[in-house]
Amino acid sequence: MPDIKAQNCTITLDGNNYEFPVIIGTEGEKAIDISKLRDTTGYVTLDIGYKNTGATKSAITFLDGELGILRHRGYSIEDLAEKANFLEVAYLLLRGELPNKEQFEDFDNSVRHHTLVNEDLQNIFKTFPTGSHPMGQLIAMISSLSAYYPKALDPNRSAEAKSRTVLRLLAKMPTICAMIYKKRLGHPVVYPSNNLDYVSNFLNMTFKHVSDSDYQPDPVVVDAMNKLLILHADHEQNCSASTVRLVGSSQANLYATIAAGVAALWGPLHGGANQEVLEMLELIKADGGNVQKWVDKAKDKNDSFRLMGFGHRVYKNFDPRAKIIKKTCDDVLNKLGINDPVLEIAKKLEEAALTDSYFVERKLYPNVDFYSGIIYRAIGFPTEMFTALFALGRLPGWIAQWQEMAEEKQPIGRPRQIYTGQMPRTFIPRGERK
Ligand code: CMC
Repeated sequence: MPDIKAQNCTITLDGNNYEFPVIIGTEGEKAIDISKLRDTTGYVTLDIGYKNTGATKSAITFLDGELGILRHRGYSIEDLAEKANFLEVAYLLLRGELPNKEQFEDFDNSVRHHTLVNEDLQNIFKTFPTGSHPMGQLIAMISSLSAYYPKALDPNRSAEAKSRTVLRLLAKMPTICAMIYKKRLGHPVVYPSNNLDYVSNFLNMTFKHVSDSDYQPDPVVVDAMNKLLILHADHEQNCSASTVRLVGSSQANLYATIAAGVAALWGPLHGGANQEVLEMLELIKADGGNVQKWVDKAKDKNDSFRLMGFGHRVYKNFDPRAKIIKKTCDDVLNKLGINDPVLEIAKKLEEAALTDSYFVERKLYPNVDFYSGIIYRAIGFPTEMFTALFALGRLPGWIAQWQEMAEEKQPIGRPRQIYTGQMPRTFIPRGERK
């Protein structure tokens, strides 16, 4: 990947001047390339939480948090959500270009070819207690694919074999997510129908009852689900994508690597927020719907409560994905004729937070997770499935990030630290210690 422009910056340390290159990305983002900092100066940088650290160059996703811009491979998220389907966006992320008709059909057929999972995989469910969280099950199921496809453990396998692993993951993820849903209900699984498109197939495996031959996914729901998956498809170097790059950099197999990404996503500060948002809205409703009381709690530094679905490490403006989701939410609820009282609470909460100086000063806007749960619920998903749906959408992004890292032969990720512990001390045998 070429550097667009390069100039130098001078850093003065201990009275000496050192020159470091400045890298400027295609959208004008600037970085000081300190790759040689430790070798030349003996210093490292300290940046807890990587708030100022560019961990890689990347050509996949651009986002401007100040302006609320998100683009994949140069295409705006608004265009992609409006005009593309999820599998097209997956192709774009993975291969760099939108597919033409033939390329799309070929890709789509290849994915359809791999949708089944080994029957034995279902035994894993027997080992989970009833009511286990879907994300814990998803991590186990994805990781277990490495046992069924052991050739994926070889980091030096052919490009064709690598591409097959990617197709397998994309194809089996909806099957696994739907199985998790069915098993939680104690219902028999519905096998993939490869005459259906990616999203319809997923909805069919999830919501069709085995004995119900008439089930047809509602086109409104198929469209909303495509949008939601697209809106989650990639988000550059977030916590889970960085985890995927870090784990993948050790040349761990792709199944284990993606399972690690799913684990990182699970936390309530990341993808787990979508479940938390709905639980919070329910809580506010059950508490009488006094929105101001909960806004005040979120502002109170002695109270650990945060407004879930608000704030973002990078967006200091409206999350563009939240804008699209908000509109989709209204459309879906209208078209499905659903009147969800938590939507009213969500709107009041958003209004209160957007006018409150605490949120305004800190630039805390609704994020992607704020409205997605209301749509998932309208479609019929239980709250605990929400983060697994985020994972389903994020999968192509994780794979694209992993692929870019592997193709560029990036070194194993291994940050430094500043040690703040004990200085050397004498070992005292157990019996003599005070
Ligand atoms: N409610 C109340 N106060 C908040 C919130 C919130 N949701 N988010 C941030 N703040 C405050 C925080 O207390 C701090 O205040 P002060 O400067 O007075 O100490 C200030 O805003 C900055 O917050 P931060 O925690 O330093 O910011 P961060 O960049 O480390 O964290 C975040 C970003 C997303 C983890 C955080 O905003 C948050 O916890 N939000 C709620 C969880 C959530 O919705 N997560 C989903 C993120 S979007 C989906 C994804 O891609 O993961």
